[in-house]
Amino acid sequence: MEGITIAKEYLWDLENDRSLLRRFYHKNSNSTKEFSSVNLKNLRSTKSWEIKPGITLPSFTAESEFEQLLRKRRTRRFQSKNTIDIVFIAKLLQFCAGITDHNHNLFSYPSPGALYPCTLFISMNTSQHDYVYRYNPYMHTLEEYALDQAKSINNVILDEELKKFPLKLYFSSDYQLLEEKYGELSYRLLCQEIGHIAQNISLYCEHKNFNSVCIGGFVESVFQSVVDDKYDLHYVMVVG
Ligand SMILES: Cc1cc2nc3c(=O)[nH]c(=O)nc-3n(C[C@H](O)[C@H](O)[C@H](O)COP(=O)(O)O)c2cc1C
Repeated sequence: MEGITIAKEYLWDLENDRSLLRRFYHKNSNSTKEFSSVNLKNLRSTKSWEIKPGITLPSFTAESEFEQLLRKRRTRRFQSKNTIDIVFIAKLLQFCAGITDHNHNLFSYPSPGALYPCTLFISMNTSQHDYVYRYNPYMHTLEEYALDQAKSINNVILDEELKKFPLKLYFSSDYQLLEEKYGELSYRLLCQEIGHIAQNISLYCEHKNFNSVCIGGFVESVFQSVVDDKYDLHYVMVVG
């Protein structure tokens, strides 16, 4: 209730702190192992749809490679038989989340105002890679951001099977530039951008015969304690 009062007071006060709504919403939609600020309920309803008269569309079998890829994509919560190596990671980041037009600094996904607010971190389950890396798309490098020999970062994920996946991607943001330009619209725009990147990654994984899972329920506080609390965590993907 307190938050709702704050939101009402400040909603259209453009001189005020325009990150207020975002911070309120983000803090109140978190989950941990013991506690979820969101009350998840077992579904008892079915989706209702009032059918209207309209145009019946023809259905097709998937013909082109791209159509087949779109048809085949699935969430698979077990690892494939394929091994992840640095070539796969480099290509995945370059083509799904990297710069594809260096003349204009444009990326492989659309972004509000071409500001690219999402920052990707990755971790690997191998002993040679003891860091949580930050992907720098401008240099196409994996920056050693946080040393994590104990692999504590895996505790961001609650599901024990998903924790075992060899590659994890963390979609984060610090909102810089975005909130300056878009104010209260920013949070919505950021989530939309992240969805585009995640879709690129899930399709690329399908194309390369790796399994992937998008994870919306995760423990942000673990991410922030291992990596940096200036970044909020919005989405996680596991690939294997
Ligand atoms: C925003 C979002 C959040 C999701 N969160 C989870 C999750 O926390 N854990 C999980 O196992 N799957 C998660 N999924 C995967 C969905 O369960 C899955 O996409 C859905 O069952 C449909 O299956 P499909 O992807 O194979 O078509 C999530 C998917 C989306 C788009």
